[in-house]
Amino acid sequence: MPSSLLRLYPQPFATVPLKGLYLDAPLVPSKPARRLFVYGNFVMSLDGRIAIAQPPDGHQAVPNTTANPHDWRLFQELAGHADVLVSSGRYLRDLAAGQAQDSLPIGSANAFADIRRWRRRNGLKAQPDVVFLSEDLDFSLPQTLLQEGRAISVFTANTPSRERITELAAQGVSVECFVGGGRVDGKDIAARLTALGYRRAYCVAGPQVLHTLVSAGCLDTLFLTTVHRLLGGTDFSTIMQGALLDTPLDYRLRWLYYDAANPAGAGQIFARYDGS
Ligand SMILES: NC(=O)c1ccc[n+]([C@@H]2O[C@H](COP(=O)([O-])OP(=O)(O)OC[C@H]3O[C@@H](n4cnc5c(N)ncnc54)[C@H](OP(=O)(O)O)[C@@H]3O)[C@@H](O)[C@H]2O)c1
Repeated sequence: MPSSLLRLYPQPFATVPLKGLYLDAPLVPSKPARRLFVYGNFVMSLDGRIAIAQPPDGHQAVPNTTANPHDWRLFQELAGHADVLVSSGRYLRDLAAGQAQDSLPIGSANAFADIRRWRRRNGLKAQPDVVFLSEDLDFSLPQTLLQEGRAISVFTANTPSRERITELAAQGVSVECFVGGGRVDGKDIAARLTALGYRRAYCVAGPQVLHTLVSAGCLDTLFLTTVHRLLGGTDFSTIMQGALLDTPLDYRLRWLYYDAANPAGAGQIFARYDGS
């Protein structure tokens, strides 16, 4: 039996299928974007945890108490729209350590074959390109990632050694160095992605990258899944971490769906918020 959700907003209430919910709906609110459209997505607990410390070494990861197949399906559908993903150096270190949640979307599982077909129909590359933000460039890139036909770039506001740049170039990875104290400014990221011809950038990184984008006023839309579970704990991440914003940024609710079935016993809501 296909999974279904209850649409709570906008009204009227309706039962809608999970599959295609984010893929078939327009991502960009108005006319086809001539500028870059930036969006992000998180799954969190009722108490706002997106990642919690894991034994034995305390590295943070998305807990299996919030990760669930329905949210993962929508995470993949959002990637279906992207021409570039924004990820982090930390993701690459987690991947090398076998601690990453999964490979970058679009997943190769049969369950996501319709998303791959959708991309072909809509003239998109099989896989979105990827930009990794990193201050230290202290990571390695696995062969599997290098062989997926993606253009891969690293954005930094540091001055990496010539050897490191040459080493990455030999793997087909371009390194772009920006002005700043290690951390790239969100405005520079958006300007460079636009100059590279990208129009839909999907942030799949965590709280520091989100802060980079939001504090520069670059985040158009936030997709937020809230799993109806309280986790507690003291060593955790929430969706955005960094300096207090000078002025709070307002986002308006655009969609709200209730999933009573998943995760079993709790349920969750899927929300979309658009910047004003
Ligand atoms: N629940 C969810 O939906 C969700 C979603 C995403 C991530 N997560 C979790 O959140 C945790 C953190 O994820 P994450 O490491 O991807 O996210 P992050 O905290 O946003 O990124 C951290 C790393 O990104 C680089 N970075 C961030 N901003 C930068 C900037 N402006 N310029 C240059 N480099 C910058 C740095 O890399 P270097 O250290 O290489 O310099 C930094 O250490 C992980 O446990 C992840 O699983 C959860």
